[in-house]
Amino acid sequence: MPEEFEAGVTDSPITEANSMGEKTRKNVYEAFVGEAKAHHRLLAFARKADEEEYPQVAKLFRAVAAAEGVHVERHLRLLGEAVVKSTEENLQFSFESETTVNEVYYPRFIGEAEAEGERAAALTFSQARDVEEGHAALYKRALSAMLRDETHDYHVCQVCGYVAEREAPDRCPVCKAERERFRLVT
Ligand code: FE2
Ligand code: FE2
Ligand code: FE2
Repeated sequence: MPEEFEAGVTDSPITEANSMGEKTRKNVYEAFVGEAKAHHRLLAFARKADEEEYPQVAKLFRAVAAAEGVHVERHLRLLGEAVVKSTEENLQFSFESETTVNEVYYPRFIGEAEAEGERAAALTFSQARDVEEGHAALYKRALSAMLRDETHDYHVCQVCGYVAEREAPDRCPVCKAERERFRLVT
């Protein structure tokens, strides 16, 4: 059994992504995207239900969102893109992936959005690029001593995804959102 299939997930078909039939692979990818959309949409629905004071409906949305999250991960595993190694290797992988995204993909996406006059997309991409750069820096620092002597929280900007260590800033350095838009992640 390939190591990306965790113990207990014995009912997952053991199919390597590159040996999968073309249509199936495309369908797994499509299912992954659809489930990921549902997962995030349901979390937004849950926040709205909380706001409108339907706490049980909020819980229901969160429960189904968690379930769709399970599907997202299973599909990703089938695609061979959820390989989990040692923490040090996972940090290295995450560092490289953030670096590629902010040096290669987002610059191209920004250029193409600007060329088509898509200002909202260009802004979203450009803030995401800056944020990914920050993620890469966090990973790089973590790699040096594996954060062994540190215990602190992180705060995530809910507008752009900027990650602040320890305290949320008064304003997000990337998107300028106010402190209240940061969410504590423990
Ligand atoms: Fe699902
Ligand atoms: Fe990132
Ligand atoms: Fe932000």
